[in-house]
Amino acid sequence: MVDIIKTPMHILNSAQFDRPFLDYMCVLTDTIRRFDKSKEGLLYLKGLLAHRRAMLYFTQPSTRTFLSFQTACQVLGMNTNEIRDSSTSSERKGESIEDSLRTFSSYVDIIIMRTPVPGLCDRIAVLLDETERPVPIINAGSGPDEHPTQALLDIYTLNRSFVRLGGIDGKTITMVGDLRRGRTIRSLSGLLSNYQDVKIQFVSPPEFRISEDLRQKLIQKKVSFEETDQMEDALRGTDAVYMTRVQDEYDIAGESKKVDNSRFHLKHEHLRLMKTTAVIMHPLPRREELDPAIDSDPRAKYWRQERNGMWTRVALLTKIFGVDSKIVLPEL
Ligand code: CP
Repeated sequence: MVDIIKTPMHILNSAQFDRPFLDYMCVLTDTIRRFDKSKEGLLYLKGLLAHRRAMLYFTQPSTRTFLSFQTACQVLGMNTNEIRDSSTSSERKGESIEDSLRTFSSYVDIIIMRTPVPGLCDRIAVLLDETERPVPIINAGSGPDEHPTQALLDIYTLNRSFVRLGGIDGKTITMVGDLRRGRTIRSLSGLLSNYQDVKIQFVSPPEFRISEDLRQKLIQKKVSFEETDQMEDALRGTDAVYMTRVQDEYDIAGESKKVDNSRFHLKHEHLRLMKTTAVIMHPLPRREELDPAIDSDPRAKYWRQERNGMWTRVALLTKIFGVDSKIVLPEL
């Protein structure tokens, strides 16, 4: 049993996961999704957390993270409450975010939160740990800094894609787009540092290069990486390309419009440059950086990646509440 998460089991950033935990989560997710194949299996899952309640506090836009967490809760029999706009809560009347979150902890057993404020999830976790009801916090995306559950589903998708190719160890992963403000890039880069001999190629215009703190973290962890603006060269040898959109919601004065990002769009004609075994991923939503004509190529994994997200989140909830022990796993 892998048990690196302490009680209460907050999920705040990708640095809290190690390789045994990631391997365990991949096997747990694989096993749980087999329950989806029968009515008996689904009814079994539905009984696992029928006594638990979740709060979905999403004050930054979301489609798939919100829906996949909500559906994951439903799969496990959990009831959910939601706030998707702080103007509909008593924050509008001047209640502090700290008091709001503490109020949720009075009614539910876990808080899953997406926020535009970096570091807020960590702050709330510390605050709740001091109270009588220290319920777990899951960071479902916090401004430009972290999206740890997206990184878990990305690792699961990479792992599944490379299952007959020796796994993630030794692979070259190419990340393209707005790397400076992309939280999925930050969290996934952190998790990739747990794998042997992985090389990361960061491809972006100069304005969107990775931030200095991520660069220093990767150097410290001895991750092999390079930064380039030559997308076509990077595509030739890569095992995976991870496309991202421009994160212009963090613009201060429309500065993204001044950046020429057109050389960093993956088009159908680029497919001929890539290995036949390569995988194409995107956390979604996409814009023009990922040509829909690519969707039908067998290397396109982003719709599968999106579905994997729900099963990864089911697995994570079972782990947080300790009912993963009720899933019979193959020997690790
Ligand atoms: N990948 C992701 O976080 O998507 P949403 O913003 O739709 O949740």
